[in-house]
Amino acid sequence: MPDSWTFAVARNDLSRTSLTEGATPELAAGEALLRVDRVGLTANNITYAVLGESMRYWRFFPGEPRGLGPEWGLPPLWGFAEVAESATPGVEVGQRLYGYLPPAGHLVVRPERVDGTGFRDAAAHRADLPSPYNAYRSTEGDAAYRADREDLLILFRPLFFTSFMLADQVADNDFHGARQLIISSASSKTAYAAAHELHGRGPRLIGLTSAGNVDFTRSLGCYDEVLTYDDVDTLDPAPAVYLDLSGAPATRAALRRRFGDLLLRDIAVGLTNQVPNAEAAGEVFFAPVQMRKRRQDWGREGLDRRFAEAWHRFATLAEKSLDVQVGSGPSALRQSWLDVLEGRVPPNAGRVVQLG
Ligand SMILES: NC(=O)c1ccc[n+]([C@@H]2O[C@H](COP(=O)([O-])OP(=O)(O)OC[C@H]3O[C@@H](n4cnc5c(N)ncnc54)[C@H](OP(=O)(O)O)[C@@H]3O)[C@@H](O)[C@H]2O)c1
Repeated sequence: MPDSWTFAVARNDLSRTSLTEGATPELAAGEALLRVDRVGLTANNITYAVLGESMRYWRFFPGEPRGLGPEWGLPPLWGFAEVAESATPGVEVGQRLYGYLPPAGHLVVRPERVDGTGFRDAAAHRADLPSPYNAYRSTEGDAAYRADREDLLILFRPLFFTSFMLADQVADNDFHGARQLIISSASSKTAYAAAHELHGRGPRLIGLTSAGNVDFTRSLGCYDEVLTYDDVDTLDPAPAVYLDLSGAPATRAALRRRFGDLLLRDIAVGLTNQVPNAEAAGEVFFAPVQMRKRRQDWGREGLDRRFAEAWHRFATLAEKSLDVQVGSGPSALRQSWLDVLEGRVPPNAGRVVQLG
């Protein structure tokens, strides 16, 4: 009797989807079964799929054990899961965890380093993948957790972590000597959270966005100035750093024309336009790198404390600006995937899906 399900997308055409049923997996000693409960979808999840091969995002949740061929990929999601069965001491049935999850009913994990804060999945196929994605945090003992802000955490936690680390890295490097920071896809959650962290700390913050998203982006109050992509030629040609979240080749070309050598750094952070931009930018921001540095500088607890403090400051703004739209079940997940993929979700909205 099928009692679980898996959502997958065609690796070579992210708009082609599949929803299959299957049996709940059996557990071996040392494993635990997580029931995927509530997840979010933003442009970041699409980026995982666009970079699925090159950055190995397809490898976190392989489709083959679920009966899917290699043409299908499981785009990773962030959210909450509950322990449904456990064959691991210290991992209790009913425990609620935040982490990286498949678009599926269940996930089998092999917990290691189990303590009051959660555990890591030591499954062999994840061993050489970036470690921050392998951590499952128990809601108990998590300084950033508040039950009434679960949806904010679902949508923003990984994004805000990037924003926090990006702002920290740029500030840590004296803003690379820039007088202005130019941020594309300024209406995206990752971008405006970074702007919120950077505002008033140094250079002028200029957000670039689509014409239809200018009003929303201005209303956030995180940027000194918000312009459309067509306004690049009106920018002051003073020393600048570009933090690229759109990946749009035309915007990069316009900035290079306008700034020439005054464009001191061009850093790829995201690619909401679904065009890989690492090579064109010449430099890529990857949050786990700065995280490792700060773990050394501040210790794990110091980093967690600073993150939680910054998160609670930001959550107050996020709560005001976000319209959480909650769907239910695998078919709502599929619909949200297509809506986010095709850019049909306005920037003030956040898609959450209740699966359990
Ligand atoms: N490097 C890292 O470690 C890291 C970590 C987290 C996120 N990121 C990246 O940051 C980017 C933003 O992610 P997010 O989750 O914060 O995004 P989000 O809030 O879902 O962003 C929505 C915005 O992205 C643009 N957009 C969305 N869909 C689009 C489409 N189909 N075509 C063109 N533009 C589209 C629009 O902004 P505009 O109109 O303003 O362009 C839209 O308002 C992603 O590429 C994500 O992967 C990187």
